[in-house]
Amino acid sequence: MVANRPIGVALLGLGNVGGGVVKLLHDNAAAIEARLGARIEVRTIVVRDPDKGQRVVDVDRSLLSTDFDRAICRDDIDIVCELMGGTTDAKRAVLAAIGAGKHVVTANKALLAEHGAEVFGAADAAGVDVYYEAAVCGGVPIIRVLREGLASDRVEALWGIVNGTSNYILSTMTESGRPFAEILKEAQALGYAEADPTLDIGGGDAAHKLAILVNLCFSMSVDVTAIAKDGIDGIDPIDLEYAEKFGYVVKPLVIARDHGHAIEARVHPALVPANWLLADVSGAKNAVYVQSYALGPSMYYGAGAGMLPTAMSVVSDIIEIGRNVFAHAAGAARPRPRPETPRRLLPLAEVRTKYYLRFGVLDKPGVLGQLMTVLGRHDVSIAQVVQAARSDGPVWVVVLTHDAKEGDVRAALAEIDTLPIVADRTRVIRIASGDPSKGAKS
Ligand SMILES: NC(=O)c1ccc[n+]([C@@H]2O[C@H](COP(=O)([O-])OP(=O)(O)OC[C@H]3O[C@@H](n4cnc5c(N)ncnc54)[C@H](OP(=O)(O)O)[C@@H]3O)[C@@H](O)[C@H]2O)c1
Repeated sequence: MVANRPIGVALLGLGNVGGGVVKLLHDNAAAIEARLGARIEVRTIVVRDPDKGQRVVDVDRSLLSTDFDRAICRDDIDIVCELMGGTTDAKRAVLAAIGAGKHVVTANKALLAEHGAEVFGAADAAGVDVYYEAAVCGGVPIIRVLREGLASDRVEALWGIVNGTSNYILSTMTESGRPFAEILKEAQALGYAEADPTLDIGGGDAAHKLAILVNLCFSMSVDVTAIAKDGIDGIDPIDLEYAEKFGYVVKPLVIARDHGHAIEARVHPALVPANWLLADVSGAKNAVYVQSYALGPSMYYGAGAGMLPTAMSVVSDIIEIGRNVFAHAAGAARPRPRPETPRRLLPLAEVRTKYYLRFGVLDKPGVLGQLMTVLGRHDVSIAQVVQAARSDGPVWVVVLTHDAKEGDVRAALAEIDTLPIVADRTRVIRIASGDPSKGAKS
C-alpha cells in the first residue's frame, strides 16, 4: 500500500482532552496509521501558559505557543482541534480556522449549542469539515450513530443521561441516603465536579448536549435557552427513598420527542422505572436510549468524560477527516435534512407526563380530600397515594399521577401551596414515561 502524506494537526488546548489526544496518538500510533494509511502529526499546540509546570503529558516545549491565530494559519496544518473550552476565544479560533480553510474538530458543546448555526454555516461556505463527536457523551459515539448508523431511520424519541457529574451525585445519594450538599462537596474533592458546578448540576451542560442531539435527530436548530431545565439540587434523599418504594430510580435525564408539529425537549431529574435499562446507568457513566421507527429501541452507553475516552472521540474524528482528505471528499457539501415545515419547541406547559408529588401537610382530618379535590379540578388524576406520619414535622403525602399536562399540574400546585393545611412547599419530580415496553430491560 502506498503511504499517504502525514496529516498535520494544530491542538488548541493541552488540558485533560488535549493531553489525552497527545497520549492516544502516541500509544495507538501504529493502529491509527494503519487505519488512516498515514501518520497524524501534532505540529503545534496552543496553551494559555506554556510555562505551566504539571501537564497531563510531556510534550516537546518547542511545540507550545500562545498564539492561536498563527497556529491556525500555518500551511502545514490540515486540521485544527479546538480543545480549549469556553465560547469566546473558542468561537473566534474555530471561525478563524474555518476562514483559513482548515478542517475543525471540537469537543466544545457550549460553542456548538450556542453558535452551531454560525459555525456550520461558515464551514459549508468554506467547504471544510467540522466534526464534534466528543461534544456529547465524551467517549460514547452517539453523534456518529445518529448521523450515520441511523441515517436511514427516523428518531421518534430519546432519553439520555448525558451529564456524568449529576449522575454520580444522584447515584451516590441513592446508594448512601446522604444529602445533596454533602455528596457535591465530596465529588468536588474527588475531581468529579468543578469548583463552580452550576452548569453540571443546574442542567445547563445537559441542555447544551440536548440542543446538539435535537439538531441531529430532528433537523431543528433550537435556542438552548428555550430548553426547559431543572437541576438536581432540589432532590432530597427522602424522594429517592420513596421513588425506590414505588419501583423507580431518580436519574438526571434529557428527553426529546417528535410530536410532528412540535419537538419536545427538556432536562430534569426524573423517576425512571427500575426495569428500564437507563435505571442501571450509574456513577459518572452516560447513556442515550433512542427509540427510532425502523430499529426500534437501542441504547448507547459508556464513559461520558475523562482524558482517554474523550480523546478517543477526538482522534476518531481526526482519522475520519483524514480519510475524507485523501478521498477528496473533505468539506464536500452534505445535504442537511430539513423538515418540510419549521417546527416549534413544545412549551413546557403543554408537555404531558406523569408526576411524583410530595406534599407536606398538617396532620388533620380531611387533608387528603382537599388535595385530591384541587388536583381533580385541574384534570390531574391520581395513580397511587402514600401517607406517612412523622414525629418531627408535617405529614408527607406522596402522590403519583397519571399522565397530566404540566400547565395543569403547576396550576394545581400553585393553588395547593397556598392552602392553610400545607406546611411545606410541594416537591415535584417528573416521571419518565412513554410506551412501557420502550426502555424496559426485557
Ligand atoms: N474533560 C472532559 O472529560 C471533557 C469531556 C467532553 C468534552 N470536553 C470538552 O473539551 C474541551 C476541553 O476540556 P478540558 O477538560 O481538556 O479543559 P482543560 O483541562 O481546562 O484544558 C483547557 C486547555 O486549553 C487551554 N486554553 C484555554 N483557554 C485558552 C486560550 N484562550 N488560549 C489558549 N489556550 C487556552 C489551556 O491552557 P493552559 O494549559 O495553559 O491553562 C488548557 O491547556 C471543553 O470544551 C470541554 O467541554 C471535556
